[in-house]
Formats: sequence, structure tokens, C-alpha cells
Amino acid sequence: MPAISASSPGKIILLGEHAVVYARRAIAIPVSQVQARTVITPLVRQPAGYIQVQAVNLQLDAPLAELPADDPIRQAVELTLGALNVQRAPAMHIRIHSSIPIAAGLGSGAAVSVAVIRAVSTYLGKPLPVEDVSALAYEVEKTYHGTPSGIDNTVIAYHQPVLFQKGQPIQPFSPGGKFTFLIADTGISAATREQVSGVRERWQADPAAYESLFDRIDALSGQAFQSLQAGDTEMTGRWMTENHHLLQQMGVSCSQLDELVNAALEHGALGAKLSGAGGGGNMIALVSDEHARSVEDALRSHGARQVIQTGLE
Ligand code: PMV
Repeated sequence: MPAISASSPGKIILLGEHAVVYARRAIAIPVSQVQARTVITPLVRQPAGYIQVQAVNLQLDAPLAELPADDPIRQAVELTLGALNVQRAPAMHIRIHSSIPIAAGLGSGAAVSVAVIRAVSTYLGKPLPVEDVSALAYEVEKTYHGTPSGIDNTVIAYHQPVLFQKGQPIQPFSPGGKFTFLIADTGISAATREQVSGVRERWQADPAAYESLFDRIDALSGQAFQSLQAGDTEMTGRWMTENHHLLQQMGVSCSQLDELVNAALEHGALGAKLSGAGGGGNMIALVSDEHARSVEDALRSHGARQVIQTGLE
């Protein structure tokens, strides 16, 4: 059997994080500048059923059977074997390498799952369709934060901009013009699970206030969906910044995220907000070609550890 490889992009949420957990609309796009890659090679000297896992970024190199039962890589492999009804797969070596920062809101967990599921199913000669890849990655996502909306596995598996709403058909879309985003990392790692459960506690304490915030975010996602398709960068930016203010009210921003958002806006960004679970991780800024450089410089001088440029055309 020849070696098989599969790669998945990272992702950013343009609007709607957190509210999306409560079945409101959100928009996410893939980020191809960062990737998770899985390579599978046969292990000819090992018996059928033997699987060795090497996760380069985690300094992990161990037999699959020795990983904890809830290990996300183990889960991704076993769910794939289960979905394909394979009892004893030919012995294989699974190597995973990712350039997607961990716990930064860029979807590293979902990207690794998608790459592993694609590679394993392809290696076994039964590549799974995209909806199955996404559904299996969703099962693994539950390990990361309990009540995932499913947006990460969806945008990464489909590798397309999507308007996402839990329980509704996915709406992939094409932008009506060029959009350039800068993604800036605060360098603070924040667990999605904790941010999501913090919002849940506050929602339980004051459901009316939080339902209203979720509704307002849902409306912004709907408006941004129109502006993105119309190629209207100015309005898209405005909806993003308004979304950041609502996320601040939800208690998921932090001083470093706010500082980067303000720096971006002061230097000409069309819109800026935190992206992902918040509490740290990344923020995004929508920029014109003219301001891209000055915004990037401002982000760096205000403490951004890394700035990635991505876009839609
Ligand atoms: O994985 P992150 O940090 O991009 O967060 C996902 C977005 C949330 O809306 C906060 C959670 C979810 O499941 O949608």
C-alpha cells in the first residue's frame, strides 16, 4: 500500500461565536495558511490491527492502543474504523503534523480530526464523503468542549466559507469581492471548554440578557452574510466590530484582545473582533490593501505574537 496523506486548513469565525452554541447563525471561513497534515504509511513487519501514532507537535509517539480512551486522535481513528466496519486494519503508522496554533481559536483540534479521518478512510480504500468526515470530527470535538456547535468541523471539512446554524442545512457561500483579514495572536492560550461553560453559567444566571445578546449576534451574522456576498467590505467590517462589542458584554474578551481590536481600528481596519472562544487566542481585523501594512505593524507593536494574513476572493 502506498503512503496516503490528507491536509486540513485552520479556520476563523467571522461572526457569531458563542451565540452559535445556542442555535444562532455564525459565519466561518477556512484559513489555508495554517494546516494540519496526516501521513499514513504501512508497517509491513507489524500484525494487522497494529497502529502507531506520531503527533509531532505533541512529542507523542506511541501505539494507538496505549493512548487514553478519550484521546482525540485515538477517537478519530477508532470512530473512522467503526464507521467503515473495519475490525482489524492493516498495520499502519499515522504521522500528524500541524502548523495551527493550539487553543487559539483557529480550529486546531477539528483540523487534526478531519485530516486523520480523511487519511485513515482513504488508506483503507474507502474515502468517506465530506458530511461523514464532518460528523465524525464533530463526535471528537465533544471531547474538547462538551457542547460544540459543530461550526469548526463543518468549515474545516467542507473547506469553504459557510453560514452555519445548528440543526439547519449548511450554507456554503462565495464572497462577492476581495476580503483581506489579519489574524493576530495574543499569545494567551484559553480553553474553549472554559469559555463556553462561563457563558453557560452567565446565561443561566440571566437568561433574558443572554438570549437578547445571542439574538443581536444572530442578526449581525445575517447582515454580514449579505454584505460578504455583496462584496461590501465596509459594512462587513462594521458588523464585525459590533459583534466584538456584544462579545465584550458576554464577558469573553480580555484586555489584550481589546487592545489589539482598538489598535487595528485606530490604524484603519474596517472592522475587528476577537475570533473563537475568546479569553485569549486570536483576534481578526478586516483590512483594505491600503491599510494592511499599517494595521499589521500596529498589531505587532501592541503585543501580537504572530500575525497571519488570509483572505476571501
Ligand atoms: O474552538 P474555538 O475557540 O474557535 O471556539 C469555537 C467557537 C464557540 O462558538 C465558542 C464554540 C462552538 O462550539 O461553536
